[in-house]
Amino acid sequence: MAKPGSSGEHAGWKLHAAQRALQLVEPGMTVGLGSGTTATLWIKLLGEEVRGRGLKIRAIASSEDSERLGRSYGIPFVDFEQCRSLDLTVDGADEIAPHLALIKGGGGKLLREKIVASASKRFVIVADASKQVEKLGRFPLPVEVIPMALPLVGDSLRDLGFTPTIRANPDGSRYITDEGNLILDCSGLLLENPKAIASRLDSIVGVVEHGLFLDMANLALIADEEKVIERTT
Ligand code: A5P
Repeated sequence: MAKPGSSGEHAGWKLHAAQRALQLVEPGMTVGLGSGTTATLWIKLLGEEVRGRGLKIRAIASSEDSERLGRSYGIPFVDFEQCRSLDLTVDGADEIAPHLALIKGGGGKLLREKIVASASKRFVIVADASKQVEKLGRFPLPVEVIPMALPLVGDSLRDLGFTPTIRANPDGSRYITDEGNLILDCSGLLLENPKAIASRLDSIVGVVEHGLFLDMANLALIADEEKVIERTT
């Protein structure tokens, strides 16, 4: 699903970040494939290395779309039964704050993205410079919710100060995640203390996962028209 205002914006910058991330891949690695437009560029570059240059890697994807794309290049996939830990995952982000605190999930893939990130020795973000913020929260925070609990979770999120909106597809139907859940996009709250909010969200029954990725990323490759900068925690 396309995010509002995301289509094609800063495509060249994203490509530069993806190219830099490709340099982190070594033969024999098991890699995590993220989701979204920037991660997609990286998967295509990686796929070209596999298909055209015989690079030997294995992968686990954070979305069905990313796995389909990877398979189209002949990237071999494994699952967590076969491989418990990933050497490197490369993924995008919707907002990047100090200490590499992130909002992710604009594309609706946050649950699998967080699972893949949590199993990764290195979790690297690729993004264009517009994603950098001082405080998280201008981008609505995606929260993945069990459908039955939607009204209850909505009330709890409003109690925290958010304005939740049920994510919809362009045809107006509800957006359903890869795991069969709904997404509430939560706006209206700048996150002064993301850790406190994350812990409140973690305690709401019916919330499957949320898009706050804190203390997970090791490195962010952030590109503008001139350069790619490396940000670490
Ligand atoms: C997918 O659910 C997201 O977490 C994306 O990684 C994030 O929205 C960044 O996407 P873009 O690279 O398309 O901006």
